[in-house]
Amino acid sequence: MAIGSVALSTTPSVFSETNGKMVKGVKKSVSSNSLIQIALIGKGGMGTLNVSTALSVEGVKLVAVCDLYDKRLKDAKAEWGNDLFITKEYKEILSRKDVDAVIIATPDHWHQPIAIEAMKGGKHVYCEKPVIHKLNEAKALIEAHHKSGVLFQVGSQGMASLGNRAARLLIKQGIIGPVNFIDGQFTSAPGRLNSFVAPEDATEETIWWDRFLGNAPKKPFNPQHFFAWRNWRDYGTGLAGDLYVHVLSSVHYIMDAIGPEKVYTTGGIHHYTDGSCDTPDIMLGYFDYPDRNNLGAFTLQLGANYVDGVSKKWGSMDFRIVGSKGTLDVGWNKVVLKTLEDANPKDFEVLDELGQRMNVPEKISPREYVFQAEKNYKGGHYDHHFNFINGIRNNAPLTADVLFAVRSAAPALLSYESYLRSEAIQWDAKKMKIKK
Ligand SMILES: NC(=O)c1ccc[n+]([C@@H]2O[C@H](COP(=O)([O-])OP(=O)(O)OC[C@H]3O[C@@H](n4cnc5c(N)ncnc54)[C@H](O)[C@@H]3O)[C@@H](O)[C@H]2O)c1
Repeated sequence: MAIGSVALSTTPSVFSETNGKMVKGVKKSVSSNSLIQIALIGKGGMGTLNVSTALSVEGVKLVAVCDLYDKRLKDAKAEWGNDLFITKEYKEILSRKDVDAVIIATPDHWHQPIAIEAMKGGKHVYCEKPVIHKLNEAKALIEAHHKSGVLFQVGSQGMASLGNRAARLLIKQGIIGPVNFIDGQFTSAPGRLNSFVAPEDATEETIWWDRFLGNAPKKPFNPQHFFAWRNWRDYGTGLAGDLYVHVLSSVHYIMDAIGPEKVYTTGGIHHYTDGSCDTPDIMLGYFDYPDRNNLGAFTLQLGANYVDGVSKKWGSMDFRIVGSKGTLDVGWNKVVLKTLEDANPKDFEVLDELGQRMNVPEKISPREYVFQAEKNYKGGHYDHHFNFINGIRNNAPLTADVLFAVRSAAPALLSYESYLRSEAIQWDAKKMKIKK
């Protein structure tokens, strides 16, 4: 199961830590002036959020929206104006001359096919994570990008946040010593996974069901599959593709990592045994990363529980990085440093380029400091969209590019695969290939 024989860079390129701006440029843009015109494909929860964030970047205009459900197209006009072109056929978006870039926020099984067509059509692509739904989709995606000359950014916005960028600088500075362990635990009270009530107007007349299925197995109209697609492996991979991939992207960015060499995952459907899903509600994943860059060989542990009765933790993508000399608790807006010996504040100067108070920590004790972004910080989601738009405007490469996207999606898919097989999977992260 090799992903591809196309030329691969070994590490993702790194953007300047100054205001999220990129530093070097190689790619051409299809846009002829400074206004960047975008279109949305998939106007659900995340598509709507992506558009509102993209529009908060100066010089961005939304011209078209595609969705498969009448109500969401109607909502698009109500939210963003009557002039908007709306359609259920994404190909009509891709053939429009007035579209510079598309945001793809469909369920996972549609990411790769639409992204490839978009790049072939000369559109820059901002594609939600995970960019691939199956490992064997990666080669064609990477090749399409190589041939296209357009920019590709995966929607893993956490890695663009001040918190992630600060963690990356502190790790490289060596403040917690070589890293040996990273731990992320995510829980939610029951309800999230199958809190589904079909809207009254959800019928085959208002929803283009066959198009939704796409390359998934054919089945009769089922609104639960359409709206709660995350529950089903034909369209997503449950917790792995929904959640693990966020942390994997952050970890790859912070540690300059390209992937684990071994993945093992266990778990099960312990609570939702009523047939409302075929992806697990409890998952524990273990990912062993070799030391490729002297930052340490480490094991990443990711746990997720959708049925923790008293939990209020869902939504946080915080995780802990453990080194021999200290720990970093990493959030998108905040990092907490704890050290074995008294920390030397001179070491914090590496954060000066971030500004926005990430470089002026609150001292709890000589061995504990809190780095917090300013209240008016616009957040990682804004920074990520800013990077994308800025990249198009200035012909600059992006950090969360197609290779980065595939390399951070792959361990999530392997994690789900390991759960299905009940065995550990050995991974060649350089060649992006399962080892026999
Ligand atoms: N970056 C993040 O923080 C984040 C958060 C949530 C979801 N996501 C990702 O965003 C994507 C969408 O998730 P969501 O929660 O918004 O789902 P959603 O169900 O709310 O929205 C998906 C929308 O896509 C539309 N759609 C489906 N197939 C389509 C097709 N072929 N053409 C056009 N439209 C199509 C559906 O009609 C629906 O409106 C997923 O890939 C998910 O992993 C990312």
